[in-house]
Amino acid sequence: MMTEVRSTDSVTIIEKDSVNGSECSTHRNSKHEAPKVGEYEAISGPIGYNSFPNDPDFAALVRDVEVALDSGLKPQLSPKGTSGCYFVKDKNQKIIAVFKPKDEEPYGKLNPKWTKWMHKLCCPCCFGRSCLVPNQGYLSEAGASLVDEKLGLGVVPKTKVVRLASETFNYSAIDRAKARTKRNIYNRVPIVGKHFNRIGLPPKTGSFQLFVNGFKDADYWLRRFDNEALPESTAKKFQLLFERVVVLDYIIRNTDRGNDNWLIKYEPASTKPLSPNQNDEDEEWSVVDNPEIAVAAIDNGLAFPYKHPDEWRAYPYHWAWLPQAKVPFSKEIQDLLLHNLEDSNFVQDLCDDILELFSHDKGFDRPTFEKQIAVMRGQIHNLIEALKKQMSPVDLVKMPVLTLHRRRHTIGRTRADSDNFMRSEPRRTPFFSWC
Ligand SMILES: Nc1ncnc2c1ncn2[C@@H]1O[C@H](COP(=O)(O)OP(=O)(O)OP(=O)(O)O)[C@@H](O)[C@H]1O
Ligand SMILES: [Mg+2]
Repeated sequence: MMTEVRSTDSVTIIEKDSVNGSECSTHRNSKHEAPKVGEYEAISGPIGYNSFPNDPDFAALVRDVEVALDSGLKPQLSPKGTSGCYFVKDKNQKIIAVFKPKDEEPYGKLNPKWTKWMHKLCCPCCFGRSCLVPNQGYLSEAGASLVDEKLGLGVVPKTKVVRLASETFNYSAIDRAKARTKRNIYNRVPIVGKHFNRIGLPPKTGSFQLFVNGFKDADYWLRRFDNEALPESTAKKFQLLFERVVVLDYIIRNTDRGNDNWLIKYEPASTKPLSPNQNDEDEEWSVVDNPEIAVAAIDNGLAFPYKHPDEWRAYPYHWAWLPQAKVPFSKEIQDLLLHNLEDSNFVQDLCDDILELFSHDKGFDRPTFEKQIAVMRGQIHNLIEALKKQMSPVDLVKMPVLTLHRRRHTIGRTRADSDNFMRSEPRRTPFFSWC
């Protein structure tokens, strides 16, 4: 299916195009054509454009998906949402991940949901978010996962930037025509065709989030919990998980956390026979399984604003209306976070990791990035205070927001950490505070 030809300074990868049976080649000159910033180039495996040397498990999953796509398996476009959101599968048709290509985001040039596009055109004040960097939702998705992992929250399904190609994705007519023409040339005049860098549709860059099984929209379970109270230990566990979603959203200043954008898995207590061979008379030997509860914060593409919302809409955190938001932050979350958040080196490391991630985008702009980080540092500042004083999430969202901009250092002077940042507080309040 695939041949890899190596020479001293270049790698040529020939892949079989499953849809048309033709071959597709990727040629790279490793000495002279280093991957450019802004393009996640193939540096790795024989099929893939993706390399995750520090995360072999994730790399293996991405590879399973690449193999499935290569064999013609089609991803499934999610009917929900405002953009291209695809469920990608392995060769056994098992959904592995949710892939959102950058160019199919609400502001992407190839967004397949044209009705949403009309909405954007006709009603921009309800659609756009002027506080966000446009068309970088995939980075926000991956950034949320990075923050989650770094803080040990464990509520965001692992998300990274990946490049994938499939007939199912939305391509421009030109891209499709180019791919057809190249394929024809390759088939008819292979000697010419083999000089093409790539045959087949171009891979799309996007966020690749692991799919979590057995979860439903939080909205569904929250309504059920209103009527049937959770057992005490499960309610306690849920409260701790809820706090983690709050912390994540607050730090990344998520502007889209409706109760349809986080998921809950709940398996009520059940009884089952001690052994599969048991008969009805042995019922007293049944054991009771503890109820299981888990949460997943998905759809994190509208976070990391470069300023606090200050015009039309407030983009509130919808969890702030839940009863769980009135409960003071727990000792557990204090212990998990405070020592890290108060450590300026830890926070700087976090910012550096986000910089490394975001700087790969073609539209990356350093001054805008600094503003995004200033918002995040302001959020962390408030969160530290709220955790220390054991305030509740409701109290946290009522705190006046601020941004912390790094000052330029004067050479030769050592400053106290508090002197390193310039604090500012936005004055205008949004017109709509409930949406
Ligand atoms: N990681 C995941 N695991 C399981 N299911 C998921 C995952 N991500 C998304 N889904 C499912 O797909 C649906 C759409 O996902 P998502 O909300 O991320 O898409 P979207 O197109 O960005 O929508 P929106 O318009 O809300 O931004 C979700 O409601 C959820 O049911
Ligand atoms: Mg959604």
